[in-house]
Amino acid sequence: MDVFEAMKQRRSVRTYSDRPIEGEVLAALMAEIDACNAEGGLHIQLVLDEPEAFGTGIFKYGQFKGVRNYLCFVGPDNDELDEKVGYYGERVILRAQQLGLGTCWVALTFNKRRTRYELAPGEKLALVASIGYGTAPSKPRKSKSLGDVSNAPGDAPDWFEQGVAAALLAPTAINQQKFRFEYLPPEGDGKPRVRATTRRGTQTRVDLGIAKCHFELAAGKENFDWAV
Ligand SMILES: Cc1cc2nc3c(=O)[nH]c(=O)nc-3n(C[C@H](O)[C@H](O)[C@H](O)COP(=O)(O)O)c2cc1C
Repeated sequence: MDVFEAMKQRRSVRTYSDRPIEGEVLAALMAEIDACNAEGGLHIQLVLDEPEAFGTGIFKYGQFKGVRNYLCFVGPDNDELDEKVGYYGERVILRAQQLGLGTCWVALTFNKRRTRYELAPGEKLALVASIGYGTAPSKPRKSKSLGDVSNAPGDAPDWFEQGVAAALLAPTAINQQKFRFEYLPPEGDGKPRVRATTRRGTQTRVDLGIAKCHFELAAGKENFDWAV
């Protein structure tokens, strides 16, 4: 499954079977986590066979069933952490999808006190994601349109529209899709630029990182620079 198919097929999965993550699937997942940690300066951790984070307290009665494995998105505690975790974390999520695993980003509905993860000095846990073999097929959800989330000018190249279409497939907290992509034509000999912004809201910096990951994969990093 190529990464675009993975984007199209991914839906949040909240019900899991007991089947462990092991063998080649585990090795491939770990390779992506290691690559993202090295490239992004993060400390993403995969926790296996640990039922307490989603199975204790009020979280026992929530929407999640059978969660035994999860990803902890940890990194340096600074202003960049949320967006960075979104960007690199989504790479791991899409790799998991390619490997036949289900996932769900989780900012709120887990027991943070019972979650197992390591923190080096100066690090913080941003959020987690459940991961494993899903049992229930997940439901499709509503999405905004290209025009809702981009300036979509008539002279924008095809890659811009492809990038925005991919961003619309990205998961966002409470499906809020508050991100926006703006095409900026090249100046002089420079490349075109794309400005990605978000309105304020819960977890919107993580959402922005996730959407930028999708945009970049579909638009092709060689075609543009991010405007700051
Ligand atoms: C940053 C972030 C935080 C999320 N937090 C939660 C959460 O606490 N509980 C939950 O059930 N779903 C959570 N989700 C999952 C979203 O509800 C889900 O991605 C969204 O409704 C879109 O649906 P889809 O992932 O199936 O495309 C979160 C998603 C993101 C991106």
